[in-house]
Amino acid sequence: MEEERIINPELEDASEERLENSLRPKTLDEYIGQDKVKENMKVYIEAAKKRGEPLDHVLLYGPPGLGKTTLSNIISNEMNSNIKITSGPAIEKPGDLAALLTNLSEFDVLFIDEIHRLSKSVEEILYPALEDYTLDIIIGKGPSARSIRLDLPKFTLIGATTKAGSLTTPLRDRFGIVSRLELYTIEDLTTIIKRSSRILGVEIEEDAAKEIARRSRGTPRIGNRLLKRVRDYAIVLGDGNITLKIAKHALNKLEIDELGLDEIDRKLLETMIVQYAGRPVGIEALSATIGEEVDTIEDVYEPYLIQIGFIARTLRGRQVLPPAYKHLGYSMPSFEMEEA
Ligand SMILES: Nc1ncnc2c1ncn2[C@@H]1O[C@H](COP(=O)(O)OP(=O)(O)OP(=O)(O)O)[C@@H](O)[C@H]1O
Ligand SMILES: [Mg+2]
Repeated sequence: MEEERIINPELEDASEERLENSLRPKTLDEYIGQDKVKENMKVYIEAAKKRGEPLDHVLLYGPPGLGKTTLSNIISNEMNSNIKITSGPAIEKPGDLAALLTNLSEFDVLFIDEIHRLSKSVEEILYPALEDYTLDIIIGKGPSARSIRLDLPKFTLIGATTKAGSLTTPLRDRFGIVSRLELYTIEDLTTIIKRSSRILGVEIEEDAAKEIARRSRGTPRIGNRLLKRVRDYAIVLGDGNITLKIAKHALNKLEIDELGLDEIDRKLLETMIVQYAGRPVGIEALSATIGEEVDTIEDVYEPYLIQIGFIARTLRGRQVLPPAYKHLGYSMPSFEMEEA
């Protein structure tokens, strides 16, 4: 899959990263939606500050583009602490992690993105560090090797992952705060898009913001990306202001339908309806048939298709549901009725 996919919630390139950084809220109050997570986090942060202790270690999980990195920065901001940012794949050897840990200052936040990708030997260094802020290192080799224990500054680890299921139990158990980010509602996405427009200096009609929100698959990153593309149309076709008409025109040109589905979603659903005759299908078979990786289907397509009630995970595999037939204009197979 080399072609560019506008609804791909993964970060596209450096220019998108710059855009994102400019649109990132800096405080919990500016962070839109995720009310449950936000409320809890406020309490934990206030309590930690009152106790004069660092915040408990935090694990944030959920599909890409929902604001894990943003929230991590906000947490460190609200704690008035510094954040050091790294990722699972970047920490190759135990020594890399040891170097990171020994360079932390008291109350620092260490943010490890894609934390499910830490190697086992690196993870083992992390356990005592998280548990009692110590580092066990082995000096020397062979019979003269000995282990020494170093004290680390009290710090907070924030781990982010799209795959909480891939985390080992011992690692998972060491997080005092585990928060799951959910796909955003259309209302929250509308607010996010209006806020982003304001920052970008673009006028946008309420209806237009809502239209973009509706097609953003519950994902702020996609919403901001669509906004940027729609703005281009507004500049070329109009006076730069985003009206509902321009938004609809632009989004249709981008081949994203009223529910935010693109060509690959449609291919996936059609394969399930036609090729598999609406019967449950295993994720591997589906992956082979449509030529998309299992991980991509699970992380990118499925969460939204499940959220809007188009597919379900069953014990026998993925099952396409009645609203998907209706949306794509297929009639329901008769066995479906029997099962229902
Ligand atoms: N609650 C929110 N309010 C406003 N903007 C948000 C919110 N959540 C995310 N965004 C915006 O969406 C973009 C993507 O967010 P972020 O990079 O934090 O996602 P992520 O979950 O870390 O993604 P990934 O899994 O790919 O690392 C950012 O530009 C951010 O400004
Ligand atoms: Mg991120």
